[in-house]
Amino acid sequence: MIPVITIDGPSGTGKGTIMSLVAERLGWHSLDSGALYRVLGVAARRRGVALEDAEALVPIAETLSVRFSAGRVYLDESDVSTEIRTEEAGMCASKVAAHPRVRAALLDWQRRMVREPGLVADGRDMGTVVFPGAPLKIFLDASPEVRAERRYKQLKEKGLDANLAQLVVDIRERDERDRNRPVAPLRPAEDAVFVDSTSMSVAEVLDRVLEEVRRVF
Ligand code: C5P
Repeated sequence: MIPVITIDGPSGTGKGTIMSLVAERLGWHSLDSGALYRVLGVAARRRGVALEDAEALVPIAETLSVRFSAGRVYLDESDVSTEIRTEEAGMCASKVAAHPRVRAALLDWQRRMVREPGLVADGRDMGTVVFPGAPLKIFLDASPEVRAERRYKQLKEKGLDANLAQLVVDIRERDERDRNRPVAPLRPAEDAVFVDSTSMSVAEVLDRVLEEVRRVF
């Protein structure tokens, strides 16, 4: 069996950074599942489909032409890397991600990303739904204030617009929707290792995760 490491948690915990660093260390492939939902949100908007209209979103999800290449993300061969990183795109992603049939339509695509020698996948339901048999599952969390601050820095570094107070409000709203949706809600898998990164640096979180990698593999 090709090994999978899952890293789940709310936004702003540094999941994406840790996922990339672990994949790089191990020489494994990586999957940023949040980007998939973000791209779907952009695709829906481009086609003028309402984010609440599950019926219309399913065929878009089923035929979504998304490609990850050299750190860039493409939708129908157009580079949407910057467009999908705005807070608004995150909010749209969380709306399309709330529909059970939309999630089901993206399951196979995600599972097909498992390739030799292994995959590190980050998201909300990697350990609970998409890869329930993964031998190592990490659940990364941090206080909403710290997550908002990290998000703020990240957006500023990318030259995007950001307002700290608004980010705290947005993060709480998105968490609420992700945690309370009936299908694949954000929660740790029973066998997940819980890491609270509130007062940890990226290097410390990476060390902690690599310690688990050595224990399991
Ligand atoms: O991780 P990121 O912030 O890019 O995810 C954007 C949104 O996509 C999340 O708020 C969540 O609603 C949704 N998502 C999801 N399941 C995943 C990954 C992301 O529902 N596995």
